[in-house]
Amino acid sequence: MKILVTGAMGFIGTNFLKYMQAKYPDYEFVGIDNLSVEDSKNNLNCFNGYKNYKFVKEDITNEKNINKIFKKEKFDMVVNFAAEVAVDYSIENPNIFLKTNIIGTAILMNACLKYNVKRFHQISTDEVYGDLPVDSTLKFDENAILKPSNPYSASKAGADLLVLSYCRTYGLNATISRCTNNYGPHQSYRALIPLTIKNCMQNKTIPIFGDGKYVRDWIYVLDHIKAIDLILHQGSIGQIYNVSGNCKKNNLYVVNKIIRQMDKDKGLISFVKDRPGHDAMYSINSRKIEKELKWKREYSFEDGIAETIKWYVDKLE
Ligand SMILES: NC(=O)c1ccc[n+]([C@@H]2O[C@H](COP(=O)([O-])OP(=O)(O)OC[C@H]3O[C@@H](n4cnc5c(N)ncnc54)[C@H](O)[C@@H]3O)[C@@H](O)[C@H]2O)c1
Repeated sequence: MKILVTGAMGFIGTNFLKYMQAKYPDYEFVGIDNLSVEDSKNNLNCFNGYKNYKFVKEDITNEKNINKIFKKEKFDMVVNFAAEVAVDYSIENPNIFLKTNIIGTAILMNACLKYNVKRFHQISTDEVYGDLPVDSTLKFDENAILKPSNPYSASKAGADLLVLSYCRTYGLNATISRCTNNYGPHQSYRALIPLTIKNCMQNKTIPIFGDGKYVRDWIYVLDHIKAIDLILHQGSIGQIYNVSGNCKKNNLYVVNKIIRQMDKDKGLISFVKDRPGHDAMYSINSRKIEKELKWKREYSFEDGIAETIKWYVDKLE
């Protein structure tokens, strides 16, 4: 089995490759990343000495080079993590999100069809469903309408629709997973949890948008990765699977928890100007993957956050 992993040196791609290489020593992996995210370069040397892994620095929107790689490597599966993901940057510069997240996905799927790749999996997000008020008890399932609020989530929703259209029109064997907010090792310092840990260590101000009351559903990255592994091996073609952490917490709670655990002072928190159109809360259920593929979360927020703090502290000390 030979698997192409795009966005391989990003947060979730790196964790996915580490997990899959340990679990499937007979598989071969090729990672592609354009290393546009500065922190992704730090993940490159995690794979020194791995025999069944090859890294190619490439952009998924470079159709000519992507086709060359597909022709040479003859992949069995493609897992597409590559994306522009920073919502604030998408508000300033939406075009690059359309290019990577939609055109890039189309280029990969076209190559799958051309070079007979048996399986394509698209990594998507709960953000495609749009937000709900923080006191809502609603949870979207896979049939809910898509109502993205910013160029990032709109580009991810667009890619999802394109994947479904390739299944129907061209018979591409594809699946989609839509997961909630991941946290864990190898995440960029642009994200709330790594930034909070780093700033606690350095006694620097911790910025929080607005009043800190925005709610996200947090999942430890390994629980997400185990869901992807199940979908790749047992998922049904043409299906979408929601993956929820079932752990809704507001940003202020998350930051305070890290501050307490690291024995720091709440005075480090600084409330900063909100982003336009900020989503209040995302909310999905993952009954389908739990029932059909017997997926279960293994990490509590307490255990996941403790592991995450330990990983960053060891790395930064
Ligand atoms: N982090 C989360 O909470 C979360 C939740 C749900 C879904 N997702 C999805 O998971 C995927 C990975 O997200 P992440 O958090 O690991 O982000 P990340 O930014 O850490 O990783 C994305 C990687 O893709 C690379 N990349 C960007 N544009 C590229 C291009 N044109 N060609 C090749 N590589 C390119 C970047 O350099 C980066 O290494 C994304 O598709 C994202 O939408 C993330």
